[in-house]
Amino acid sequence: DCISDFAEVLCGRSCFHGIKGLIRYAQGACAGMERYMGKTFEGYPEITKEEINKALDFCNRQILHILPEFTDKFQQAYSVDGFYPPIENVDWTTGFWTGEIWLAYEYSHDERLLKAAQVQVHDFKNRIDKKISVDHHDMGFLYSPSCVAAYKLTGNEEGKEAAIKAADQLISRYQPKGKFIQAWGSMDAPENYRLIIDCLLNLPLLYWASEETGDKKYREIAENHIHTAVANVIREDYSTWHTFFFNRETGAPDHGATCQGYRDGSAWARGQAWGVYGLALAYKYTRRGEYIDLFKHVTEYFLNHLPKDLIPFWDLEFTDGDDQPRDSSSASIAACGMLEMSKYLPEEEAAYYQSIVAKLMKSLYDNYAVKDMKKSNGLVLHSTYSNHSPYNTCNHYGVDECNAWGDYFYMEALTRMSKDWELYW
Ligand code: GLY
Repeated sequence: DCISDFAEVLCGRSCFHGIKGLIRYAQGACAGMERYMGKTFEGYPEITKEEINKALDFCNRQILHILPEFTDKFQQAYSVDGFYPPIENVDWTTGFWTGEIWLAYEYSHDERLLKAAQVQVHDFKNRIDKKISVDHHDMGFLYSPSCVAAYKLTGNEEGKEAAIKAADQLISRYQPKGKFIQAWGSMDAPENYRLIIDCLLNLPLLYWASEETGDKKYREIAENHIHTAVANVIREDYSTWHTFFFNRETGAPDHGATCQGYRDGSAWARGQAWGVYGLALAYKYTRRGEYIDLFKHVTEYFLNHLPKDLIPFWDLEFTDGDDQPRDSSSASIAACGMLEMSKYLPEEEAAYYQSIVAKLMKSLYDNYAVKDMKKSNGLVLHSTYSNHSPYNTCNHYGVDECNAWGDYFYMEALTRMSKDWELYW
């Protein structure tokens, strides 16, 4: 606190928040591998090996079933009454569908899946060559589960080339003043001089590009961004801001704001889940101990705000009894993050997170997963893309529906639980 007060006097209010974040970050580094066991959800059943196989089997069959319609086309970001319409490869979400095809291919080795995924990778190459709808930061969401996956699984050179071009596109959004990757809009737009927490999942594309090319510039930008992001988007209580603005003249941290959450100051469930998985990936690629500590706290906040069935409402402000939609995708994203981080933790802590994930996945499988192809062409119901509230600027769509990333991360979590999975991220 004393250092915080000094920082405020020294540099004024504008960078006070950032300095406080940095101090907490340093405290985290000192705490290092602080031992942690939080809520255990005692008495909740865990998903069994047999159920995991059954779930993956259904995913594989559903994907094969709709493959003819979704080979030259992609799924819309969200379903309408349970059914995805086909779209061209123009949204930030299309890579998830290709990622599902790859995950299904890993499961069943069905040649039809391989062929369809290759068609889609070719389309992604065309998209980045022609710069079709790539003026935003979501290059990792687009190119990791599609093209990096293609290269890792099958040595697909077109995928590698496309993904490196996508990494170049992503670093073109770096703002050296402020040291962050700008999420949206034109690079000189004052209303867009901000980062968003979702970007943590776009960074693995940059670590991969540095490894493949031997050029450190991608990794350096990823590391600068992650430092700026965690110092600012994580609040005192370890809830998170969805977006964070910087001063355009000085680059100093300015203020947090929500876009897709209920209100400024609440914790948008998916933002918190991007934080959980993003911190696990940050640790994987940097091995900085402070990310473990932050992961534990951000995850604890997420777990402490789950309703009885463990599947969050769209904003963590809401709980049982509130007439609000769920965001089942957040549960799957956080599950993947906990499984990733458990690889680097001592046995007892790893077992703790694995057990939480098994309970969460049981609830998803029992109560949210699609089981009847006649009712939906997706995999997981009850997700929320963009829910308008009196305090946010969101359009209202994809509420209480399937969405592309909800389906993808559900399958990724199941795959992680079924074998030692090499990441597409
Ligand atoms: N990355 C946008 C979202 O999570 O809705």
